[in-house]
Amino acid sequence: MCGIVGIVGRPGENVVGKIISGLEKLEYRGYDSAGLAVVHDGYIDVLRAVGKLQNLKTKQEGSKIYGNIGIGHTRWATHGKPTENNAHPIRSGSVAVVHNGIVENYKGLRFDLQKDGYVFETDTDTEVIAHLLQRKIAQGCSPRDALRSVQEIIEGSYALAAIFMTFPDTMVAARYRSPLVIGFGEDICVGSDIGAIASIACSEVAYLEDGECAEIIGNEVSFFDASFQPISPKRQKISPGFVSTGKGEYAHHMLKEIMEQPSAIRRTILSNKPDGRMFDGVSRILIVACGTSYYASMVAKYWFEKFLKIPTDVEIASEYRYRSPFIEENVLAIAVTQSGETIDTLEAMEYIRKNSNSRVAAIANVRNSAISRIADFVFYTEAGPEVGVASTKAFTAQLTILASMAFSRHEFLINKLRNLPSICEEILDLQYLVKDLAEKICFADSAIYLGRGSLYPIALEGALKLKEISYIHAEGFAAGEMKHGPIALIDDDMPVICLCPSGELFDKTASNIQVALARGKNVVIFTDPYGRKHLPQEVTKIILPEIIEEFAPILYVIPLQLLAYYVALLRGTDVDKPRNLAKSVTVE
Ligand code: F6R
Repeated sequence: MCGIVGIVGRPGENVVGKIISGLEKLEYRGYDSAGLAVVHDGYIDVLRAVGKLQNLKTKQEGSKIYGNIGIGHTRWATHGKPTENNAHPIRSGSVAVVHNGIVENYKGLRFDLQKDGYVFETDTDTEVIAHLLQRKIAQGCSPRDALRSVQEIIEGSYALAAIFMTFPDTMVAARYRSPLVIGFGEDICVGSDIGAIASIACSEVAYLEDGECAEIIGNEVSFFDASFQPISPKRQKISPGFVSTGKGEYAHHMLKEIMEQPSAIRRTILSNKPDGRMFDGVSRILIVACGTSYYASMVAKYWFEKFLKIPTDVEIASEYRYRSPFIEENVLAIAVTQSGETIDTLEAMEYIRKNSNSRVAAIANVRNSAISRIADFVFYTEAGPEVGVASTKAFTAQLTILASMAFSRHEFLINKLRNLPSICEEILDLQYLVKDLAEKICFADSAIYLGRGSLYPIALEGALKLKEISYIHAEGFAAGEMKHGPIALIDDDMPVICLCPSGELFDKTASNIQVALARGKNVVIFTDPYGRKHLPQEVTKIILPEIIEEFAPILYVIPLQLLAYYVALLRGTDVDKPRNLAKSVTVE
């Protein structure tokens, strides 16, 4: 979380506008506060504002801040409340620093620095970095040596960039366990992702790996590895796809991304044709993922076990490595992630690497992300940049790849997958029915989602979408599990949203719905023409097209995304940037 950007511009250039453009692209990483600092005429000027980037922009418009070298930050608070005082850049004397990550040993370092007379003005862990750099600079070190000593002392994760009053043409940057790239264009840039530096007219990029750092002086960049030996990382062209196209005709990125699902699925099918032979000799599949990506992986378990006949374990990445699991021979591991940067998933992969000889595949949306770079092989979801914090099109694209893997030995299903985009379009045409439904739900304090089989993870995902963007408490349950406890929650006011497509489990789910109906009045069913005929007449139903049962998870999630969207709209929340969240979760 947190986004950082740095620009070393040409002499006389004012880089403030470019820093703000870069931060606009990084706001998905956190929006508790934003700030920037620039060096000019031997001074460092800092501007910071609590809340969204717009507040910083407003302040900047009323200021005369300028400089040809500067850093910027958009924050997702970890240490210290989201106040202006805790906003980055953080200063110490002649140094200003921006940081993404967590300094795990900051308490001890803070104590030592305080003993040395350093006064702490923020509650952040980052302030120790600023003081440590300043102490070294005051002792006569160069920025590069000061950075090196900081890297040797701090523990935890960091992507950081620092500027110096006494070295007005120098910026240093380093990373460990948090993403950082260096961009080359008319200026030299530093950024948490390629989108940010592409927006600052960079055409090429070099990735910093763990422990590596860079020193930028004017338009010269020197790179060093974790042992501080000079290196020359490969420079790669930035493809135009990294530049997000904005909201277009839509009110929100999320709605645009929901609507883009037919094309995202189409592109994903066309560019991924998993070969069934990848499962030859595999005796177990192990999937690690978080959040929405975890729910996509749960669906895959149903598919893999049914169609590949390979036992499949799906693990919450943040839990996995801490129980020291044993990994047997012949396991194929798969990390599923939209951002490719989620630290929990990355660490789970590292654990698998260290403790087994398993091949590790990744399903990722962001090209060249940390996870895709360490995987043995990668399947890219072709969803395009996903800006809305709540994941939508990346989820259905993940499901599409997972389905292509599961059906890789079943030609009939693979051929039928090609019909998915047009069925998605039909479902999106029902958005006005879902909009009406949102009015029945938007005043609820809580909601229940029910599904069976591979629709159970979709019930979980539907509930997560509602929670994230409307702030209504929602729970997904396996429909058959209700009677074991959660049914006590049902009363006339509780919305119970049921997923009941025709197929093997239809009658079972229909019985569970009857049980819910006997206890509550606010039951809604997503079903198909068969369900219209065979489910109770008096209940609100949204009728989706008849589809092959196996594809239901990919399609039934779409109206649930729309439902969450329209409920959030009615409740007036910030749909694209819901409170407390960030798109890329790079802290544990
Ligand atoms: C919810 C959502 C999150 C992410 C999770 C993992 O809408 O987006 O739950 O799915 O943080 O992120 P990735 O997929 O980037 O690893």
